[in-house]
Amino acid sequence: MKTIYSAIQPSGIMTLGNYIGAVDNWHRMQADANNKCIFALADLHTITVRQDPQKFHENAMSFYALLLALGIDPKKSIVYFQSHVQEHAYLSWLLNCYTMVGEMNRMTQFKDKSQKHADNVNMGLMDYPVLMAADILLYNTDEVPVGYDQLQHIEIARDIAERVNGIYGDIFTIPKGVLTKVGAKVMSLQDPLSKMSKSDPNPKSYISVLDDDATIMKKFKSAVTDSETEIRFDPENKPGVSNLLTILAVAQNKSIDEVVKDFDGLMYGHLKVRTGEAVCEMLKPMKEEYNRLIKDEAYLMKCAKEGAEQAHDIAIDTLNRFKKAIGFVTL
Ligand code: TRP
Repeated sequence: MKTIYSAIQPSGIMTLGNYIGAVDNWHRMQADANNKCIFALADLHTITVRQDPQKFHENAMSFYALLLALGIDPKKSIVYFQSHVQEHAYLSWLLNCYTMVGEMNRMTQFKDKSQKHADNVNMGLMDYPVLMAADILLYNTDEVPVGYDQLQHIEIARDIAERVNGIYGDIFTIPKGVLTKVGAKVMSLQDPLSKMSKSDPNPKSYISVLDDDATIMKKFKSAVTDSETEIRFDPENKPGVSNLLTILAVAQNKSIDEVVKDFDGLMYGHLKVRTGEAVCEMLKPMKEEYNRLIKDEAYLMKCAKEGAEQAHDIAIDTLNRFKKAIGFVTL
């Protein structure tokens, strides 16, 4: 059995990029009977950037419902809120004492975010990768499916785990980061050289998985391409067209080559419309399920509670093993 661990922050909306780059991949991993999958809503990470309490609360519930609606099955996987399992914050403190300030200072995301939120460069922002290491290491994780931007954080989690193991023996499993093959990176529809991001000020640049069909079609029709006419997959020279092809391939569950063949003799307009239609089609059952689930708070909370209990059972073991090795007096 392989343990797979991943998490997503419940901030803002869930974009098509989050779905294709992360959650769809989780779904595939969950389907493999050799995997034991654990998925968290990384809500403790979210407060490293100031949140409006009511919006934060709503987003967290909404993301939890979305995960279930997108096919993450609480009967097959552990699906829980990070903040419901105290061991995350606890292990994070312990790991802090095995992490160097210089290491955290060098993290690309920390440097980016301190620039973006220059008025709130709090300790949590700097400590973010240590909390993430705690998430992963608590569960004896073998593999962590993530996007490119998170690979550096997996590397540091490995470094910290190896450092601890070097001092105390085998405490932690050394995790491996794994990237999705197709669609690990979905680009902005307006600027296909940058990643699709919910924090982009132009809402035409991203698709929310909860957008209605008319909005989705409008956004795809206005997607930026290039001044040529040929439809081929060439991310370097044709980033806009290639991004549409990637999205279409995922939405139709085909390879990019197959998708390109379907467009022999057709024009960019066709590609945009078909991609929009395929995305509407792909998201439709999920949206229906979401609308049902979000009204059933009792059920969502029941799943969250069970998820937290299952997660806690594993996490407490790891935490105690580490505390014992450090030499803490136990009751
Ligand atoms: N930092 C990740 C992101 O923003 C989310 C995350 C938190 C995570 N803890 C994790 C991802 C543990 C993988 C494993 O995308």
